[in-house]
Amino acid sequence: MNIDLTGQTTAVIGAGNGIGRAIANAFLESGSHILALDRDADALEDFRRVSPEKITCSVVDIGDYASLQSVSDDLADGIDHLICSAAIGSGKTGFPFWNLNPSDWESVLEVTLMGTVNSVHAFATALLKGETKRKSVLLISSVAGQIGSQTDPPYSASKAAVINFAQCAAKDFASYGVRVNAMSPGMVKTDLNESVWAASKESADQSYEEWAQEKIGKISPLARWQTPEEFGAMAVFLASEHGKNITGQTINIDGGQVMHS
Ligand SMILES: NC(=O)c1ccc[n+]([C@@H]2O[C@H](COP(=O)([O-])OP(=O)(O)OC[C@H]3O[C@@H](n4cnc5c(N)ncnc54)[C@H](O)[C@@H]3O)[C@@H](O)[C@H]2O)c1
Repeated sequence: MNIDLTGQTTAVIGAGNGIGRAIANAFLESGSHILALDRDADALEDFRRVSPEKITCSVVDIGDYASLQSVSDDLADGIDHLICSAAIGSGKTGFPFWNLNPSDWESVLEVTLMGTVNSVHAFATALLKGETKRKSVLLISSVAGQIGSQTDPPYSASKAAVINFAQCAAKDFASYGVRVNAMSPGMVKTDLNESVWAASKESADQSYEEWAQEKIGKISPLARWQTPEEFGAMAVFLASEHGKNITGQTINIDGGQVMHS
């Protein structure tokens, strides 16, 4: 399938690493200009060097609404697509949830939930500039947001709220021709995924690879890793004409871990 997004601009938040980076790459390969945002300046610069003429970078912390707004206000021509991939976990293991303190929830909610809310608020005006018929927003949630994951309760709750916010925003944006969807990864080899292993009780006697293979075997019928590039391909599909009737949906790329009727 040949998808051509030439002439369009895609803002990718969390474009420095992992899934966000792969999504930004996929939009770039489809011809889109990329506005790459992340708090990791070195990773952004590394990405910018791939195609300096087509990638603009901005170092922001998504917990800081004013910074996001100022980036958005500077976009005279607006944007066509917004991708929100940045998130953090608590860095601790729940199960039972009282292994965490209520104060452990604060930073996770601030970045993983409120950072996503801040991003969509800040870029709403940029999305509504110009012809809007083909525009889209994609939020990255998680299977954790659909199953009450015990691993990291504030992360799980944030991701559930992200799915719900995608549905609200899909309804509000629909009459303006902007579609909003969410994607849920299962297990993807990234820094964030490895941080879950590092916080786990098993990390003392199992390598990251051993822990992950055991977990994937237990939770996913297809029993294999997902790759960042799979999210890039789906994100471009959703943003394209092929996705023109898809809004308010959560697409799970998780090897069948979560199945809805
Ligand atoms: N990797 C997985 O197995 C997995 C599973 C389910 C969901 N997800 C979701 O996928 C998305 C991408 O995660 P990933 O695995 O690629 O993680 P990652 O850690 O590789 O990348 C996250 C990126 O977000 C950036 N970021 C973090 N906090 C930020 C902040 N406050 N402001 C700006 N940028 C910030 C980081 O610098 C990094 O570049 C996240 O929403 C995550 O919750 C990942």
